[in-house]
Amino acid sequence: MTATVQLAAPPQEGALLPVYRRVPLEIARGEGVFVYDADGRAYLDFVSGIAVNVLGYGDDGIRAAIEGALSSGVIHASNLYHTTPARALADALTERSFASKVFFCNSGAEANEGAFKFARRWALGHRGPGKHEIIALRGSFHGRLFASLAATDRPSYRAPFRPLAGGVGIVERDLTALDIALDPETVAALIVEPVQGEGGVRVLDGEFLRALRDMTQQRGIALIFDEVQCGLGRTGYLFAYERYGIEPDLLTLAKPLGGGLPMGAVLLNDEIAAAVRPGDHATTFGGGPLVASVALHVLERVSEPEFLAGVRDRGLWLGHELHAMAARTTKVRAVRGTGYMWGVDVTMPASDVVTAALEEGLLVCSAGEHTVRLLPPLIATRDELSQGLAILDRILS
Ligand SMILES: Cc1ncc(COP(=O)(O)O)c(C=O)c1O
Repeated sequence: MTATVQLAAPPQEGALLPVYRRVPLEIARGEGVFVYDADGRAYLDFVSGIAVNVLGYGDDGIRAAIEGALSSGVIHASNLYHTTPARALADALTERSFASKVFFCNSGAEANEGAFKFARRWALGHRGPGKHEIIALRGSFHGRLFASLAATDRPSYRAPFRPLAGGVGIVERDLTALDIALDPETVAALIVEPVQGEGGVRVLDGEFLRALRDMTQQRGIALIFDEVQCGLGRTGYLFAYERYGIEPDLLTLAKPLGGGLPMGAVLLNDEIAAAVRPGDHATTFGGGPLVASVALHVLERVSEPEFLAGVRDRGLWLGHELHAMAARTTKVRAVRGTGYMWGVDVTMPASDVVTAALEEGLLVCSAGEHTVRLLPPLIATRDELSQGLAILDRILS
């Protein structure tokens, strides 16, 4: 793991639409917290397929869940019919959360689009069509579809696609600005990532979040927590909101939920769920038997108290080590994060660090131009975390 590897010629895109700036690595297989290229070179993975592969690669439990689900012969049934795995997963999610109902979809952006619709549906019944605005925060990332993009604060992602969906606005992460923006007559929902991921790994302050909960509650505005990236154990809590002693009205999940298969979910409280009628929303694939069976297995694993305590303990240690590294070098400006979700602000372009780490056998990604983001699989041991830290230390010292 310490030798610098000679990267092979960059793999070609072929007929793939070139919307991604990929790093020059073709992943051929994976095991534990390592992925391997076709020549057998190992890469310690601190990206996890962007916060998806929380149980790493080649997990026996996921394999068994897939094989068990395949034995029924029904990979997909559609939502015209009842299936047991979807109902079992919805029950398991509601037992573990504030929610009383769950809607399944296929990605994070879709989950947020669904949450916007459910919030509007509820607001329509309460106050009529004038109460329809969705407010998001500065630094937010909620997806790349039209409404989720309108709620995403990245000018370069937005500019080529105007006009974006209407009735969606972005406001500073500031209580005075939000006090003005959160008009109870016009605003249906506020969407917040408790830990902003793509926006640079910003752990939102507990006091700030509690004030937003109070404000939205008093004004009859739905509070949506987007836990697509920070949910399901990444912060060391099953749901990031648990740490703050508050509950949202709606919560969105995706990334790790399907164990690598595409899946999203919207969790709704009683009142909002009661406003939604048959036919208000739908998706062909959402909550199919295969993906729901795998997701139930993932949920059970990441809900284990010892699993979560391990993420908290090792995450604390990881943060401590990153801060210590920052103190040893002038190339690190700041370190932010919690659990297994960290951002390291560097003086050079983050992409330079991503490339240098790749050459040293470590996968990291960026979150903005100058933030290197670390999202190791939640099964990474302290020893594996320290292997990655040693590589980063070498690059940044
Ligand atoms: C917080 C958050 N919300 C939504 C999304 C969009 O998820 P997807 O890429 O599955 O549409 C992401 C993806 O990075 C995310 O981090």
